[in-house]
This record gives sequence, C-alpha cells and structure tokens, in this order.
Amino acid sequence: MTTDDGIRDIVFSEETIHARVLELGREITKAYAPSDRLLVIGVLKGSFLFLADLVRAIDVPHEVDFLVASSYGNAMVSSGEVMLLYDPETELTGRPVLLVEDIVETGTTLSTLIPRLTKRGASSIDVVTLLHKRLTAGELEPRWVGFDAPNSFLVGYGLDHAGAFRHLPYIASL
Ligand code: IMP
Ligand code: MG
Repeated sequence: MTTDDGIRDIVFSEETIHARVLELGREITKAYAPSDRLLVIGVLKGSFLFLADLVRAIDVPHEVDFLVASSYGNAMVSSGEVMLLYDPETELTGRPVLLVEDIVETGTTLSTLIPRLTKRGASSIDVVTLLHKRLTAGELEPRWVGFDAPNSFLVGYGLDHAGAFRHLPYIASL
C-alpha cells in the first residue's frame, strides 16, 4: 500500500471506498433512463479518482465533462471564494446533470456552481459527493453521499493538501 509522510490515520480504506463507489453507481443507474442523455460533470481537481471509478459503475449511457473550481489555495481553511477556472464546453440545455464532488464542507462550492449550471439550461442538477462534513445545513443538499466525514483535514483518493497526497488509494487525516 502506498504510504506518505505526515499521514496520521487511514479514515476510509481502499476496499471500503471501492465497495461504496459500486453501491453509488448502482443507485445512480436506477435514477436515470437511457434516453435522458445524462451528463456527468466532475469538479476538478479533487474528484478525478472518484469520477473515474464512479463512471465505470454507472450502467446507463452518459457523457463526461469537467469543471475546475478552486477555493482553498494552499491553506487548510477555505478562502470562501470559489474561482471557476474552466467551464464545461458540452451543451447543457435540457439535459440532466450529475455533478461529482470529492467533499462538501460548508456547501459554498455547491452554492456557487449549481446556479451557474442552472443558468446554462440543465433540466436537473443532482450532486453526488464522496464525502460530506455536514458543517452547514445547506439548502443545496447532495442527492447521494458516499460517507459522512469527520471534521478533520482529509487527503488521498483525489483530496490534496497544497497539491500533495492526491494519489493515495485511501483517505487519511493529516
Ligand atoms: P465547501 O465549498 O466549503 O463545501 O468546500 C468544498 C471544497 O473544499 C471541496 O471541493 C474540497 O476541494 C475542499 N475541501 C474541503 N474539505 C477538505 C479536506 O478535508 N481536504 C481537502 N480538501 C477539502
Ligand atoms: Mg473540490
């Protein structure tokens, strides 16, 4: 197993994540029809591993695109300002969108992204997040949540601290 300096505890193992991602894929598959033309949008960078595993577990035809959002810089506390660095090119009008997030903390990222995608004419926008810290009772709640997460700073399986640890196959606390 890959190890790295500074890791304290493994919070979700590779096996635990894998099993939950397969379950999420099955639930999402049931929620959409083949004629829906589902568009799955990964919120980069943090969702890249989750997205890659999840789309292989979604058994309904769909397209994949990305957007790039950034709120942390190099800190462990969100700046509260969400920068959108890349907007999906795919036509959204009349299509259901599934937004794939790594982790929801305060919900600021979602409350910035969802109105923007709504404005572009998506017929519905649902969110699947691997982790949820539940720091706010936001009005924009994800439809699917992989795991409730402890309120510590987590890294691995896509999550980073200052760019490091994204490649770890498990999720750990710093
Ligand atoms: P929110 O906008 O406060 O909900 O924060 C969501 C974003 O903050 C996520 O998409 C992550 O990029 C980042 N984030 C929140 N908590 C953590 C963490 O524990 N580790 C790494 N990134 C985090
Ligand atoms: Mg993120």
